[in-house]
Amino acid sequence: MIRLKRIAPSILSADFSCLGKEVRAVEEAGADLIHVDVMDGHFVPNLTIGPAVIEAVRKSTRLPLDVHLMVERPDALIESFVKAGADSLTVHVEACPHLHRTLQLIKQMGAGVALNPGTPLSSVEEVLEGVDLLLLMSVNPGFGGQSFIPKVMEKIRSARRLIDAGKLSTALEVDGGIKVANVRALSEAGVDIFVAGSAIFGSENYAATIAEMRDAAEAAHRI
Ligand code: DX5
Ligand code: ZN
Repeated sequence: MIRLKRIAPSILSADFSCLGKEVRAVEEAGADLIHVDVMDGHFVPNLTIGPAVIEAVRKSTRLPLDVHLMVERPDALIESFVKAGADSLTVHVEACPHLHRTLQLIKQMGAGVALNPGTPLSSVEEVLEGVDLLLLMSVNPGFGGQSFIPKVMEKIRSARRLIDAGKLSTALEVDGGIKVANVRALSEAGVDIFVAGSAIFGSENYAATIAEMRDAAEAAHRI
């Protein structure tokens, strides 16, 4: 069953010493996707994981792996992430001088495009048709545990309007500073996929936190 509103725990905040266990725990707790943050130390000031770890995560879960590439010029890496078992690959518009070509390269699977908080929506309008995922960053990427930037809310509403007006099947995803407390407002603004790292992995009870997020997301549609 494809849910309308999906919760995607970001493993950036998981305990890496037992990553397989953590991934299984969020799957059992009701997660819809596993969000994997790949950072190259250039596009963002941090280094995280690569295809080898994704291959290991792939063996730990049946959930789709939603791979967020925070890397400069990702074209040369796409094949290795596909082989490692990613189900979707999201690239940053700021990191791709030939965005259309990069998205064509990914098209064999779920193709996503991400925007930093300071990047306008107009930068993706020309490629949005055919893109499976539009990821709006609500923090400056690089680290977990940052605060949601309120200004992004307007961009989320505009993105929802753009997707609906074009009758596009693009899912709208938000990433950074997502907590139980802001999920409902984000859902009302039109978000489909909620990425949450510290709010889930930093909580005592993953299942309870995911259930609260899901309730808040779905509450937006019960009015
Ligand atoms: C930030 C990453 C996020 C991060 C979110 O650069 O893209 O996915 O893990 O972490 P929280 O939910 O803690 O803000
Ligand atoms: Zn991310």
